[in-house]
Amino acid sequence: MNFERNILITGGAGFIGSHVVRLMVRKYPHYRIVNLDKLTYAGNLANLKDVDGAPNYHFVRADICDAESVAEVFRTYDIDGVIHLAAESHVDRSIEEPFAFAQTNVLGTLTLLQVAKLYWESLPERFEGKLFYHISTDEVYGALEMDGGLFTEQTPYGPHSPYSASKASSDHFVRAYHDTYGLPTIITNCSNNYGPNQFPEKLIPLFVNNIRMGKPLPVYGRGENVRDWLYVEDHARAIDLVFHKGRVGDTYNIGGFNEWKNIDLIKVIIKTVDRLLENPEGHSEGLITYVTDRAGHDLRYAIDSSKLKEELGWEPSLQFEEGIEKTVRWYLDNQEWLDEITSGAYAGYYERMYSNR
Ligand code: NAD
Ligand code: DAU
Repeated sequence: MNFERNILITGGAGFIGSHVVRLMVRKYPHYRIVNLDKLTYAGNLANLKDVDGAPNYHFVRADICDAESVAEVFRTYDIDGVIHLAAESHVDRSIEEPFAFAQTNVLGTLTLLQVAKLYWESLPERFEGKLFYHISTDEVYGALEMDGGLFTEQTPYGPHSPYSASKASSDHFVRAYHDTYGLPTIITNCSNNYGPNQFPEKLIPLFVNNIRMGKPLPVYGRGENVRDWLYVEDHARAIDLVFHKGRVGDTYNIGGFNEWKNIDLIKVIIKTVDRLLENPEGHSEGLITYVTDRAGHDLRYAIDSSKLKEELGWEPSLQFEEGIEKTVRWYLDNQEWLDEITSGAYAGYYERMYSNR
């Protein structure tokens, strides 16, 4: 079968990647979507059960740091577009093991850039019709004061955690490949995502899971930090739009204009879980446990995404109340998914799923 485009999505078995893969596979049956993922603790093929058999979907297990395997994928599938999401993504882990973040986020991204450059340079049309789209985070901009305005695309980089330092570095390499070699690149920097399939080490799924198990809810510091929350499918729609309509060489911020102080968000989560589990009101509030603050904890993130709205017409489609209800309901309805992950059982999922192929 001849496909109109051959798109490589890295990190497609993770949280955001799985939503992007599903959207692209379903919306573009005339595109071939190749999902390259190493399946670290955070990668889970169960997130993609519903598209696994689609004729335009292919999965390759590989490490983005392995140049030969990545080059083989470019040659085999004649890749003409990359949507790069693969990363180590959890701030707390980056504080414990910063080298893993430098390895995948910096060296892995550099490896992918170099492979794309070499492959596309070997073709007669070179970079024409090609795109390397890098998915990044608002954390590269550092932290805002409570009354410190919003991050715009002009905000200078000022990362604090090893995670954000590694993502900032990868962003710089992407721009360097554009400015030095003319590689067609785009970067988007997005705020905190929430929704189904997020690994339960991140605030929202961790707290939903702990409430259902009656376990303590560890609030860092006084719970005063602020994050700007966006429903993951709205992020996936933005990625689709930018991939097709974004200006090469440019950067776009993505966010929901939806700031929440952690403790206020936590109270909404508790209320929603208690209501859905038919617990009496306030039942789980006693689980709130204030713990030592995260080292270097950024006070506030808030994204100004008006450029994306004005230039490409993107807006979040879901109100937060609706999104949080949908999300909490999904985790409560998918307790098996949570139990598999929290028991560590799904590390063997790939072997079980592919052993007969
Ligand atoms: P995730 O941790 O849920 O998933 C990451 C995926 O990358 C996993 O499937 C994992 O197996 C894969 N991976 C990790 N190392 C790899 C390697 N060396 N080679 C190949 N695959 C590898 O992450 P997420 O939350 O879905 O984030 C995806 C991307 O979006 C990341 O680049 C992250 O920095 C960025 N981002 C995330 C958020 C958020 O709120 N989660 C917000 C803005 C930007
Ligand atoms: O802003 C985008 C970033 O959002 C992404 O780039 C990251 O990949 C993603 O993990 C997320 O980073 P955060 O550190 O903001 O997300 P996390 O869910 O870890 O924490 C959200 C807030 O909740 C943060 O202020 C820390 C706090 N927190 C978190 C956990 C896990 C707690 O108070 N207790 C917890 O147990």
